[in-house]
Amino acid sequence: MKIRIFGVGDDFLKQFSFITTLCFIFFLPVIILASCQSTEYPIDHEQLGKDERIVIRFSHVVGEDTPKGMAARKFAELVKERSNGLIEVQVFSNGTLYKDGEEMNALSRGDIQMIAPAISKLTEIVPEISVFDLPFAFYTLDEVHEYVQSETGKKLTDKLKNHNLLVTGLWDSGFKQISNSIRPIEHYSDLEGLRMRIMPSDILAKQFTTLNAESKRIDFNTVFNQLQKGNVDGQENTLTNITSKNLYSLQNYLTISNHGYLGYFLLFNYEFWNSLSSDVQQLLTETLQEVQQWEWQHTKKMDQEKLQDIKRCECIQLHYLSEEDKLEWEEKLEPVYDYYREHYSDRYIEALPKFQD
Ligand code: LMR
Repeated sequence: MKIRIFGVGDDFLKQFSFITTLCFIFFLPVIILASCQSTEYPIDHEQLGKDERIVIRFSHVVGEDTPKGMAARKFAELVKERSNGLIEVQVFSNGTLYKDGEEMNALSRGDIQMIAPAISKLTEIVPEISVFDLPFAFYTLDEVHEYVQSETGKKLTDKLKNHNLLVTGLWDSGFKQISNSIRPIEHYSDLEGLRMRIMPSDILAKQFTTLNAESKRIDFNTVFNQLQKGNVDGQENTLTNITSKNLYSLQNYLTISNHGYLGYFLLFNYEFWNSLSSDVQQLLTETLQEVQQWEWQHTKKMDQEKLQDIKRCECIQLHYLSEEDKLEWEEKLEPVYDYYREHYSDRYIEALPKFQD
């Protein structure tokens, strides 16, 4: 019995079955190839929904044109590329998401997953960490790196785990210099009576009171305003921070003192880190190690470039401390070390590279 379709003749049916067979012959290999490709190549994670991707929100307070700002971007790019879009690091610079003083709580709560605060800002939760703030504690950046990687350094950074914070690396900002609007600082006694902005750290406060100066703890993002209003006379910071926030436009004198280290611990919310698979942790750890090496080199270069920019602008009077001057300052600042020993411990001071043979 022939099945007849209403209004359709035999010729049409023959043509239809011919076309169907042709389509089948042409498209079958394409279908097979497509299904092979999806197993041969990794999934394009860009296509994944928001809930399927791993999102790491990384907040920091400095500008893009700084070692930290650039390293954060580089880290985000590499992670995206290496995870094929599975892990997305969203960088929020300039304190746009959380300001100085807010980002630590946001990280502990898990509202963000990653920050890179100046080490001085961690001294409020682990005071012993202020060993990094001691004046002339380190003479070179290599000494800082060596100390952080030593047993003593690890003991110090491990203390942050009690606060749900995991240290996964160190980025440099460099050595701090001193600027102010009142007078050139050539001898330490020139600091007497000046009001200086500091990061929140008892050791930094002690450093300035030892030199008979006043210190005020001010958030990084308001330093420009506070200098402009005349609420402080000066501040200490690295050249990349001084230039990126245009602080030098408000100051008349800059002393290249290299008297203290400013660097950052790369911190993850510890619970979040533990929730990641070991593959993801490995990818992040390896990428961070690579970016850290790049950041260390880049910071040195950028610091030199910013010094040249400042010299060229002829907009601020520069003074360099000689090696002899520095020894004199270091001696004058010994009470800061005594303060640290009394309040915290001797062991972190004794392990500093400058006290090793
Ligand atoms: C500062 O507050 O001066 C610095 O901690 C800013 C930064 O993150 O480098």
